[in-house]
Amino acid sequence: MIVCICNNINSSTIKATVKQGACSVEDVKNTTGAASCCGKCQFKVNALVNDTLSELNHPQHATQS
Ligand code: FES
Repeated sequence: MIVCICNNINSSTIKATVKQGACSVEDVKNTTGAASCCGKCQFKVNALVNDTLSELNHPQHATQS
């Protein structure tokens, strides 16, 4: 699913970026360019970052929320 229309960044790319070490919207923005244009996707990017971080920290709960 495309999250950032301006930069054509999908959710898989954002998740992969977090798994590679990004831990904030700012990190994802710097790495992928997502949320660097109009900023409308910033809320979605933030939610994806948080979801992916909690999946990484609590893999047993990843499918429960
Ligand atoms: S939709 Fe992501 S910066 Fe515009």
